[in-house]
Amino acid sequence: MLPRDVISTGSLILRPPLVGDAEAIARMCADPVTARFMPLLPVPYAPEHARDHLQGAAARWDGGGAEFAITESDRVVGLVWARPPDQWGVAELGFLVAPWARGKNVAGTAARAVSDWLFDQGVRRVELQAEVENVASLRVAYKAGFREEGRRRDAVRLRDGRWTDLVTFGRLAGDAVDGAEPYLPFFDGGELGDGVVRLAPLTVGDAGDYHRMLTDPSVAAYFMGTPGTLEDDERRCRYTGYWWVSGQRVELAIRDAGSAAFAGHLQLTQVVPALGQAMIGYSLLPEFRGRGFMTRAVGLLLEWAFARTPLRRVVAGTEAGNTASHGVLERAGFQREGLQRELFPKGDGTWADDVQWALLRPRS
Ligand SMILES: CC(C)(COP(=O)(O)OP(=O)(O)OC[C@H]1O[C@@H](n2cnc3c(N)ncnc32)[C@H](O)[C@@H]1OP(=O)(O)O)[C@@H](O)C(=O)NCCC(=O)NCCS
Repeated sequence: MLPRDVISTGSLILRPPLVGDAEAIARMCADPVTARFMPLLPVPYAPEHARDHLQGAAARWDGGGAEFAITESDRVVGLVWARPPDQWGVAELGFLVAPWARGKNVAGTAARAVSDWLFDQGVRRVELQAEVENVASLRVAYKAGFREEGRRRDAVRLRDGRWTDLVTFGRLAGDAVDGAEPYLPFFDGGELGDGVVRLAPLTVGDAGDYHRMLTDPSVAAYFMGTPGTLEDDERRCRYTGYWWVSGQRVELAIRDAGSAAFAGHLQLTQVVPALGQAMIGYSLLPEFRGRGFMTRAVGLLLEWAFARTPLRRVVAGTEAGNTASHGVLERAGFQREGLQRELFPKGDGTWADDVQWALLRPRS
């Protein structure tokens, strides 16, 4: 049995829930974000559901697990719970934070403190799972010292009937926790722009335009294999927050700053922290070509990459005959570094040569 302790961490006090917490629990669970990411929570969430929740919390303690109300200055700001450790000393953590207390490191602090406490109680390993689109929760996992261990495809069914993937994390008692800054931080204010183009994270709302662009013959000609279905591209767009927060890649929609219309796609991929290197790739819808959009977009992304990330070398590869793309890279300052012969398979069974480009971080 885990002891019904009180945990103090920073400005937070974590204590077993009390009957008087029902109203706060009802208010924080009657929230669309919570409902979106906790598909088993009742909707609408009524006061009796909070009372049921409190009974469930008491039963959790009785069954060998733990649940804490997260409080700050005597106000309940969230909940964090652990499933009973199994026979191998493995426990699983879950949490939610009230909408009015989000974005202040409450979940990050509480998840870390409860994991530390579980290790003090003899637990060997703490697990955590977050939906691939739950970027806040994914970020909490990294901040609390968890390491990503894999993905469970189609593991959960949402209220609308759609199946979705879970990212799985584990933290071992001996793991070092640095709570490091992400290798690829999100854009300050959410976007980059220069008054002509805007760069914003690619989202599922862009999937239709993105798919239309990738299936345009003038874009498809430079891609390996056959274009995916709209469903494939929607799925890809749902992954972009996870890829970014996990430091794997940045996927952006390029928008016309005037109309906000989707103009194209720009990505920073193949991130290799040991080398401080990543690769850019891009495509523009035909109707937005010839206006310098991609040169501007690439310039904005590079400026951010060299100012805000540890990247020191950005590379690109273009098909030998793709002169429009060569022009974009030359204007952005890239230099040719070589030619890889017959690198890319073409739809007609031939292989295309690939020109290698690189741009180094400007020396200050
Ligand atoms: C997930 C949740 C618990 C996070 O609580 P929180 O106290 O706001 O979390 P923190 O402040 O510790 O950290 C959130 C991090 O995500 C980031 N974040 C939040 N929303 C984001 C978004 N849409 N895109 C990118 N980053 C986002 C924040 O900037 C912060 O990171 P930072 O500290 O590096 O700036 C809260 O959003 C919640 O209760 N959601 C509904 C229930 C839920 O999803 N529970 C988890 C199920 S696995």
